[in-house]
Amino acid sequence: MLTPYKHEPFTDFTVEENRQKLDAGMKTIQAELGKQYDLLIGGERVSTEKKITSINPGNKEEVIGTVAKAGKEEAEKAVQAAAEAFKTWKFTKAVDRANILIRAAAIVRRRKAEFKALLIKEGGKPWKEADADIAEGIDFMEYYARQMIELDQGKEINSRIGEYNRYMYIPTGVAVTIPPWNFAFAIMVGTTVAPIVTGNTTILKPASATPVIAAEFVNVLLEAGMPDGVINFLPGSGGEVGDYLVDHPKTSLITFTGSRDVGTRLYSRAAVVQEQQNHLKRVIVEMGGKDTVVVDKEADIDVAVDAIVTSAFGFSGQKCSAGSRAVVHEDVYDEVLDKVVKRTNELTVGETTTPDMYMGPVIDQGAYDKIMDYIEIGKQEGKLAAGGEGDNSKGFFIQPTVFADVDIEARIMQEEIFGPVVAFAKAKDFDEALDMANNSEYGLTGAVISRNREHLNKATMEFDVGNLYFNRNCTGAIVGYQPFGGFKMSGTDSKAGGPDYLALHMMAKTVSETY
Ligand code: NAD
Ligand code: ALA
Repeated sequence: MLTPYKHEPFTDFTVEENRQKLDAGMKTIQAELGKQYDLLIGGERVSTEKKITSINPGNKEEVIGTVAKAGKEEAEKAVQAAAEAFKTWKFTKAVDRANILIRAAAIVRRRKAEFKALLIKEGGKPWKEADADIAEGIDFMEYYARQMIELDQGKEINSRIGEYNRYMYIPTGVAVTIPPWNFAFAIMVGTTVAPIVTGNTTILKPASATPVIAAEFVNVLLEAGMPDGVINFLPGSGGEVGDYLVDHPKTSLITFTGSRDVGTRLYSRAAVVQEQQNHLKRVIVEMGGKDTVVVDKEADIDVAVDAIVTSAFGFSGQKCSAGSRAVVHEDVYDEVLDKVVKRTNELTVGETTTPDMYMGPVIDQGAYDKIMDYIEIGKQEGKLAAGGEGDNSKGFFIQPTVFADVDIEARIMQEEIFGPVVAFAKAKDFDEALDMANNSEYGLTGAVISRNREHLNKATMEFDVGNLYFNRNCTGAIVGYQPFGGFKMSGTDSKAGGPDYLALHMMAKTVSETY
């Protein structure tokens, strides 16, 4: 019997012993940089001529590792291998599948410092963010393992006299896992193990910026006892390998997390029934956000300032949940803005070699250029109040940036920047603030800072987001505590880390026997 689920504790890096542990992990990873990783297809390591080179975004010269790059030929082999493995995996007892996850979680926990260090290097994460990312990955495994054991009992339904009715969950087939780079461990782990623990086999196509940590995790799954073909590792170009897998008549479940453009594209492609396809595909797509922190006039100003700064600049704003908009009541607007600007100017930016560095780099040159372009647009659309500078000579560093007095229809208020930029807008009252917050095609997260119960009640009913937070920041959902997923163009609201998530990976079957 497993102990009840509890989330993995976060690490306090003001404690010297904790700093030393991660320092040791950093040294281990440093010594291992530059390794090569092959594809994994049906339990066999496959090398390719083409490679993906992963670099440290905080120090462009540093190579993290090299992974083999699959093409369509390898993608086809992976589908066949996953389909073959499904024939037996689907009949493996749920408790045995779940136990592999529990063992994998234990292995990651034992090697936690190394995994954090790898994420710091490959993803440019600050220590605190890397710590939370690894903890979330462990949580997904622990939580889904327990949930699967429960779901395996099926659900209660009625039977009449002379009849025995059962309602059970069965897997769908071959899944395709396509995660983003920004939670390079947590989301990659969650979207890989959810299809697997539910009895599907999967092909993991990792994000091209962070394939090494994914390769290391696949090794953990093998060490934990994952049979051949259940997990297949297939780095490659999204356009080539991703499309091929999504279109393939034998894949039955697509679980994607990433941008709106790619997500909507996959959503429509997966709806097309291909020749020889005899099922409709399940599609989970979780996409971008344009998330708002609303500050009421009856608010604790220090809480509001903290919520805005941490929501906007945690991991340099590279979270779908990032609070890139602050909508503030006119009575407290100037005070909140002044304090946010002061706090922003105190934040440190640089390579995340110590726990004191608040912000690291953005992920790559493309992200750097896009964010700097938005900063230029922001200078036309609002008043630059803090930051605005970038430096990509060694790594991709951008100052935390605040724009004041921005119209809610402005581009920097409507488009996902995915960088350390927050735009302020003024509202005349709470109703207007809520309307402004809802003025977005996205509906992922939001926060309201208010002491007014009526206003909080109104936001509960009318703030159109999947994850709503009161009197705190709008990032940092915890598995099993704040199930995560967005409305509108933020996705299919799958609520990762929640009680309904695993069922999305299965089909419900009714069996009715008359006797
Ligand atoms: P992205 O859409 O560029 O890439 C996501 C994944 O899709 C990557 O693995 C990529 O290689 C792959 N891909 C790209 N083109 C593809 C194609 N044609 N077919 C199949 N796969 C393809 O996103 P990203 O830059 O990695 O991540 C950032 C985005 O992810 C942001 O928009 C962010 O808001 C979003 N995100 C959302 C959530 C959420 O839970 N809603 C969580 C994290 C990130
Ligand atoms: N689950 C992540 C958060 O809540 C994206 O910030």
